[in-house]
Amino acid sequence: MVRKITNTVTRNRATRFKKARQVREIPLLSHDLTELAQDAQNCRNCDLWRNATQTVFGEGAPDARIMLVGEVPGDQEDLQGHPFVGPAGRYLRAKLQEAGIDLKHVYLTNAVKHFKWEPRGRRRIHKKPSAGEITACRPWLNAEIVALKPEIIVCLGATAAQTLLGRDFRVTLHRGEFLQSSIAPHVMATIHPSAILRAPDENSRQQQERQFLNDLKKIASIRH
Ligand code: URA
Repeated sequence: MVRKITNTVTRNRATRFKKARQVREIPLLSHDLTELAQDAQNCRNCDLWRNATQTVFGEGAPDARIMLVGEVPGDQEDLQGHPFVGPAGRYLRAKLQEAGIDLKHVYLTNAVKHFKWEPRGRRRIHKKPSAGEITACRPWLNAEIVALKPEIIVCLGATAAQTLLGRDFRVTLHRGEFLQSSIAPHVMATIHPSAILRAPDENSRQQQERQFLNDLKKIASIRH
């Protein structure tokens, strides 16, 4: 069924209070993930598209039980047009399998769907999306949740967790807990895989990895 959902989003929190209200509409014309992904290619709801190669929409089986939400696509994701295909993504996929989660049950997406970066020499370095950019992209994430109706949503890192669970949510305090939320029957937040890869030393990397795997095993243990 094609249904029209109109989401009103404010474009930029900073300018919202200074200037007259700037409101943009994103008409989401479908509950079909493939159609949503196509529509999102033309998204101009914030300025991130200007320096990105393409929109990197979520991917996975349309009947996937588990939705994992990251922050923003990285350099490789931007170039290839697929979520979680760079180093953090490869690590995530390996740990999901190690935890006993079949990738065919998983849908991978991000809170923000265009790569945000700054140049450092010849490299493009990831930048954290602003609150305004997260808000501008939220209708796409909402639409993915409505279309997929996942049984389990896992927020990877603070950006995803605060986007879906509120700005006061602290992953450091509540990682690995099952949370009450209307977005899905089971909701959990855990550390972002790239934070594990960036751990300051081998001991903390191993400790973070153990906890991450533990969190994923809790997800794997949920039965229909
Ligand atoms: N990190 C993310 O949060 N998302 C990706 O798609 C890749 C890396």
